[in-house]
Amino acid sequence: MSRLIIVSNRVAPISEGGPAAGGLAVGVYDALKETGGMWFGWSGDVLASGQPQIQLEERGPVTFATIGLVRRDYDQYYRGFSNATLWPAFHYRADLIQYDRHDFEGYWRVNEWLAQQLVPLLREDDVIWVHDYHLIPFAQALRAQGVKNRIGFFLHIPFPASQVLLAVPPHRLLVEALCSFDLLGFQTEPDLRAFCDYVVNEAHGEVEHAAKGPSTIRAFERTLRAAAYPIGIYPDEIAQLAKAGARGKLVRTMKATLHERKLIMSVDRLDYSKGLVERFRAFERLLDHAPAYRNNVSFVQIAPPTRADMHAYQDIRLQLEGESGRINGRFAELDWTPIRYIHRQYERQVLAALFRESHVGYVTPLRDGMNLVAKEYVSAQDPDDPGVLVLSCFAGAAQELEGALIVNPIDIDGMAEALATGLAMPAAERRARYRDMIAQLRENNVSVWRDNFLRDLQGGGEKRRAMRAK
Ligand code: ADP
Ligand code: G6P
Repeated sequence: MSRLIIVSNRVAPISEGGPAAGGLAVGVYDALKETGGMWFGWSGDVLASGQPQIQLEERGPVTFATIGLVRRDYDQYYRGFSNATLWPAFHYRADLIQYDRHDFEGYWRVNEWLAQQLVPLLREDDVIWVHDYHLIPFAQALRAQGVKNRIGFFLHIPFPASQVLLAVPPHRLLVEALCSFDLLGFQTEPDLRAFCDYVVNEAHGEVEHAAKGPSTIRAFERTLRAAAYPIGIYPDEIAQLAKAGARGKLVRTMKATLHERKLIMSVDRLDYSKGLVERFRAFERLLDHAPAYRNNVSFVQIAPPTRADMHAYQDIRLQLEGESGRINGRFAELDWTPIRYIHRQYERQVLAALFRESHVGYVTPLRDGMNLVAKEYVSAQDPDDPGVLVLSCFAGAAQELEGALIVNPIDIDGMAEALATGLAMPAAERRARYRDMIAQLRENNVSVWRDNFLRDLQGGGEKRRAMRAK
């Protein structure tokens, strides 16, 4: 069997028990711990001086190969083009897109440099699976160095409609680079359709849909395949964690502080794509319109800061501090804080247990590739007395979780109504919705995601002659 090489910017931390907050690290870690292989990417270190060196570390069946970035590369490739240009564009925030030609050059240069670092570690029959928007030029860079292995790409975030992508000045170079992969994976059918639309209408390529399996794309003198592979989780593992966590001291103490009040739970990285401002306002609207909930429901928002050295993230943090303070000031009582707004990471077990203890999971991103939190929320529930998921129609997960209360995350009244419906939903309806969703999560778990992608990457198309590059 071929060895699997995972390449991503963010690599799960090597020393602690689990991966960092972020769907990519969580999903890839779950997928790789069974197959084994190598995970190559950024160490998370930014070097003030010196030449970055690859660090190799074995953990179980996985070899972690990580490397630091020098300051200029971090600024141009990570903070700059990846997170100030691509992230807002791909999340439909054209208003937040910043573009600097030097950052784009840095992005390309770092991709070429990372590819160069990986080449000596590669074997002839390795299968290379590249993840996410930081590494769009990676296959092109490997090919330029003579690598003939199969190379696949999975995009964890949405792929934007052409009219939005056109706002990114080098859009054509990006899509051309994507066409150097053998297989492209997207989270949902709408993402795949947006990519195909660009290929046909902007790049004047061809798309041939298959009755079953990936579509064939012909563009930029390349033939490749593309399909939607919605990422999953291990729902039964989360359920176990939730049960065990609920017995833990932290969760029991927290529960005692609720004094039988109902609990609404949200967990997100503190990102402007997550719709937290609208979410806070909809909770406020609920308290305005349904006074019976005042002092009878608590909303816990866990939001660890992310990309904290970027303006857009500093702005959203300030805005949320203002909103939570304002709403708490309006409604709080001596013995009740309506919104508990917390900026820290918790162990997966604690989060899962909090999900299980809550009555509503409140997951309302403005745009999200998948949103694993929505899937984790459902998995953590007690089958006999499950909570209700309120889910944005703009999360990839909404394509699968039809048992959720689906909301438009900018419709404040609609979200307030969904909260009220969720809090009052009879047990029989909650159970029926839960059964429907958990069945779907079990059917499309993270190993199904991985196996489907790797099957399509390894099969089909002309066989490449694998070559060890050095
Ligand atoms: P994104 O990839 O945009 O961060 P997802 O919902 O897909 O969003 O994935 C987030 C992952 O990070 C989930 O697995 C979630 O449990 C985890 N996570 C989010 N916030 C925290 C936190 N405060 N502590 C620990 N894990 C977190
Ligand atoms: C999302 C992205 C990942 C990223 C994660 C955390 O899940 O899809 O690629 O790793 O956010 O963001 P960070 O910038 O800390 O890696």
